[in-house]
Amino acid sequence: MSTLKLPGLIDPHVHLREPGATHKEDWHSGTAAALAGGFTCVLDMPNNTPPITDADALRAKQRAASEKAVCDYGIHFGAGTDNVAIAASLASQVTGLKMYLDQTFGPLRLDGLESLVSHSSAFPKDVPVLCHAEGRTVAAAIFIAHLFDRSVHICHVSRKDEIELIRKAKEKGIRVTCEVTPHHLFLTLDDCAAIGVGRCEVRPMLATRADVEALRANLDSVDCFATDHAPHTLEEKDSPAPPPGYPGLETALALYLELVREDILTFDDVIARCYENPRRIFNVPAQEETWIEVDTDAEWIARGAEMQTRAKWTPFEGRTLRGKVTRVVLRGQVVFENGCVLAKPGRGRNVRPEL
Ligand code: NCD
Ligand code: ZN
Repeated sequence: MSTLKLPGLIDPHVHLREPGATHKEDWHSGTAAALAGGFTCVLDMPNNTPPITDADALRAKQRAASEKAVCDYGIHFGAGTDNVAIAASLASQVTGLKMYLDQTFGPLRLDGLESLVSHSSAFPKDVPVLCHAEGRTVAAAIFIAHLFDRSVHICHVSRKDEIELIRKAKEKGIRVTCEVTPHHLFLTLDDCAAIGVGRCEVRPMLATRADVEALRANLDSVDCFATDHAPHTLEEKDSPAPPPGYPGLETALALYLELVREDILTFDDVIARCYENPRRIFNVPAQEETWIEVDTDAEWIARGAEMQTRAKWTPFEGRTLRGKVTRVVLRGQVVFENGCVLAKPGRGRNVRPEL
């Protein structure tokens, strides 16, 4: 066995579903899944019910998280059509402003240009706006970064034309960063038959082999890995109207390590994308005396039923993975060991002040 000691990983894009959909996940089950996957900090998205688009909703989420979380966390605020001033005034309490420019789960989709422009000009320039952008809206997001000379982070890039455009924007010095998910690096549309029609639904949708190869060929332009952990129950996924989204926190690290074994990345490259870059881009404070231990040789079979996530399924069901988190230490205390979460609910801290 070879045990690797790594910094606690940071996932900049998760959906822990509380408030509003705790039957899918809540702050305890979601952060337990994070620890099991080697993440000691997760940044949570605002497409809740109600959406996190005003001070009251933010406070309710802060309260739920502070009572239940077992790892540290940050909260991304949601951009709506009428909350430009409110979003800007709450910027110090959040890790980013999420703008949904394309089809997604929940009510936060922004149509038209007006909200994109007004939020991007009003929101503090050093706190990232995160764009769910696909195809031509990637170009819009890059233009916004250029026009307002501001930090723009593009979520879950999935296609060849998108990553190539982002590469060119970076070469020009535009302040754009991006993330890629494990599912867009390891699955294609051809996998849908095996995963199942409803379970396979995700936004952005899985793409082609050529897209996956382009993402892998352009990993030097990819700042962060993000799971986009988006749990829905099996009943929902297998229904006639399956919501899009995959749970991903507990399979991610083993897949990232597969890229090392395939000689596409080094260990240091993985750490850059799972720790250093998300920490820098989202200004996450250092977690003192915090690390994870990973048995890099341990082989295991992905089984949703055995996972911490309340979703209890995975698009990688049955796949043999290599690399298992054996211990997580958060601020000097063992919070996860050999499959068991040892931290008490409330152990996790918000990485931003709550005012
Ligand atoms: C996400 C969800 O379920 O909240 N679904 C998804 O397919 N990724 C929403 C999103 O990130 O667009
Ligand atoms: Zn998402």
